[in-house]
Amino acid sequence: SDRFTVAIGLCTHVGCIPAWKKDKWKCACHGGEFNPSGQQTFGPPPRPLDLPPFTVQGTAITLGEEGPEYKKIAAAMATA
Ligand code: FES
Repeated sequence: SDRFTVAIGLCTHVGCIPAWKKDKWKCACHGGEFNPSGQQTFGPPPRPLDLPPFTVQGTAITLGEEGPEYKKIAAAMATA
């Protein structure tokens, strides 16, 4: 039942590094906010945190490979 967020930790506004604050990612540069899933919820960020290619095998997450989980999320993000 564990949950993970896979995202590139650079704000999609101009690239500052958001910090986890209680229940959201908060960007100190211009006040942008992202929810735990990486969706922008406040401020100037124009899109969610970027999703790097990844694959899941058991309890291991490997970055740089496009697994079925990545493809499903990327497809959903493309149509949102
Ligand atoms: Fe994050 Fe501007 S760089 S809000």
